Amino acid sequence: MKILITGSYGMLGSDLREVLKNFELTCTGSKDLDIRDEEKVMDFIIDKSPDLVINAAAFTAVDDCETNFEEAYAVNALGPRNLAIACNKIDIPLVHISTDYVFDGSKRTPLVESDKLGPQSAYGKTKLEGEKFIQESTEKYFILRTAWLYGLHGKNFVNTMLDLAESHDEITVVNDQIGSPTYSLDLAVAITNLLHSDKYGIYHVTNEGECSWYDFSKLIFELSNIDVNVIPVSTEEFVRPAPRPHYSVLNNRKWNASGFVPMRDYKEALGAYLSLYNFFKRIKRI
Ligand SMILES: NC(=O)c1ccc[n+]([C@@H]2O[C@H](COP(=O)([O-])OP(=O)(O)OC[C@H]3O[C@@H](n4cnc5c(N)ncnc54)[C@H](OP(=O)(O)O)[C@@H]3O)[C@@H](O)[C@H]2O)c1
Repeated sequence: MKILITGSYGMLGSDLREVLKNFELTCTGSKDLDIRDEEKVMDFIIDKSPDLVINAAAFTAVDDCETNFEEAYAVNALGPRNLAIACNKIDIPLVHISTDYVFDGSKRTPLVESDKLGPQSAYGKTKLEGEKFIQESTEKYFILRTAWLYGLHGKNFVNTMLDLAESHDEITVVNDQIGSPTYSLDLAVAITNLLHSDKYGIYHVTNEGECSWYDFSKLIFELSNIDVNVIPVSTEEFVRPAPRPHYSVLNNRKWNASGFVPMRDYKEALGAYLSLYNFFKRIKRI
């Protein structure tokens, strides 16, 4: 099976390269294949003729999207559109990653795929446009909405907390945004469920369970045996350019009901991640 991974040097993309290494892979970054370029995307996909495309490319700097809407739209909306049109042309499936930020955060129970959408940020809006373009352009798509990703190969909350703890005795963390932290390696493994599937559609896929960023930071420090004073603050006290949903826990029920392997709990996933993180830290690879 030939698989094209776009955005393959990002956090999720790097884990995908590792997890799928026994397949015939074509791995691209923005320099090899800029997904904003409709013609190049079409030519590239026709030339490589993969059996499946996994799009891990995106403009993921949530706050920067507010001031760079056009750029974010080009990567997060037009990029998936270009990939979907090309995949449709050669009749292959597209796996695309979307986000919990397509929801407005007002619901208080885990969100299902059909729940009302209402992105609050430029990032969420452009990601939602990407979802819509894919649905208009091809029937063979898997759109996986995930959340709060962390992993070995990218900037993320877990690494930021561990870095901050090296130079601070006290850290303030938001306690009124609730979500499901998800290990990018677990998501990469989850994607292998789709390689021979024709159960196309939108799925919510996160590690199980929910917490606030504050709860999550406490767990990171507890599991790492780090003694640091974490101070809970409200979103209003911790002003950032892009609004974030207050509650964006995704319900994995559809994923599970489709016979795909269920995701593990976020606490277990974090433990596994920290073991690996500390190992690489010890041998100075991070
Ligand atoms: N991170 C999260 O918390 C989170 C949460 C929910 C959903 N997601 C979604 O999960 C997916 C993976 O996220 P991630 O955190 O792994 O992202 P990431 O680490 O920021 O990686 C994204 C990659 O996209 C590539 N890219 C950017 N612009 C491109 C372009 N015009 N053409 C081709 N490639 C381009 C970049 O490649 P180069 O380095 O080569 O420029 C980068 O390596 C994204 O769809 C994201 O929206 C992420």
